[in-house]
Amino acid sequence: MKATATAHPNIALVKYWGKRDIALNLPAAGSLSVTLAGLSTTTEVCFEPHLAEDVVSLDGHQLSDERARRRVVEFLDLVRRAADVETYARVVTYNDFPTAAGLASSASGFAALAVAASSAAGLDWSPQRLSALARRGSGSAARSLFGGFVEMRPGTKPDGSDAHAKPVAPPDHWDLRCLIALTTRGEKKVGSTEGMGRTQQTSPLFQPWIETVDDDLRQTRLAIDKRDFSALGRIAERSCLRMHATAIGADPGVLYWNATTVSLIHRIRRARGDGLPCFFTIDAGPHVKVFCPAEVTDDVVDLLSDIDGVRDILTARPGPAPTLGAA
Ligand code: PMV
Repeated sequence: MKATATAHPNIALVKYWGKRDIALNLPAAGSLSVTLAGLSTTTEVCFEPHLAEDVVSLDGHQLSDERARRRVVEFLDLVRRAADVETYARVVTYNDFPTAAGLASSASGFAALAVAASSAAGLDWSPQRLSALARRGSGSAARSLFGGFVEMRPGTKPDGSDAHAKPVAPPDHWDLRCLIALTTRGEKKVGSTEGMGRTQQTSPLFQPWIETVDDDLRQTRLAIDKRDFSALGRIAERSCLRMHATAIGADPGVLYWNATTVSLIHRIRRARGDGLPCFFTIDAGPHVKVFCPAEVTDDVVDLLSDIDGVRDILTARPGPAPTLGAA
């Protein structure tokens, strides 16, 4: 009753921001992302009969945040119920990148947990079913069940069984790089669930934002199919800025950016105007992710390193689906 899985985070090109059902964590619209190699979460799950409760550790420390622990325990409850298992589990998880800083650690975290916990509990589920399970932990985690370019379907069924991701193109379809410019250390202040909830309840821009998503998805699929970098960049920046616009329009406004985030936006746009192919995207935190074709990676790294407030740059590329077994 023990298994280990490794999963990778993903970065959305067409953003997910809003839920159609909170209890089942169903998205209000689709989204489309790239799963990233170069960053990973490895999780071991062991159901142990003598345990009196679930024991969860992250990066070598017992999880001290009770809310974060509850999220894991509730997720394990779903697996226990499906597999008819009654024992508690020991969960040991490591991220090789900063946790909870807008770097989608919840995506790789719940994808790895879905794969490891279901296997440890004896469930032999398809990636699609595991994707719908991972979604219960975090909406973006559903996308990390597949490698390469991945689309999340919002589904229409009330039980959420059709709200899962599906692959659009494999990792080697397009040799892109994703450079992650870290603009601060430490954890983000408004988590994505809270930010989304406030946006949905109070932003007059929420509904118009949701109405833009299907068109962005259709155009993004086409851009990926044709490997049209400038079209991809145009749609991805537009989706990112509209997602943040709807959040900024909440009451009180949800603003994830810092001054360095804004400097990076301007710098990337100027570089593109000067002929360097690159575009940015930003999630529920102040870091900026920059996509570029592999051959200009060094130029983009130089440009990002020059900006005041950029503390570190991580490099990732399209990566694989989760793997089961010791890393
Ligand atoms: O998976 P969650 O609930 O942490 O939400 C992720 C939201 C964004 O990262 C901002 C956008 C996305 O599509 O990943």
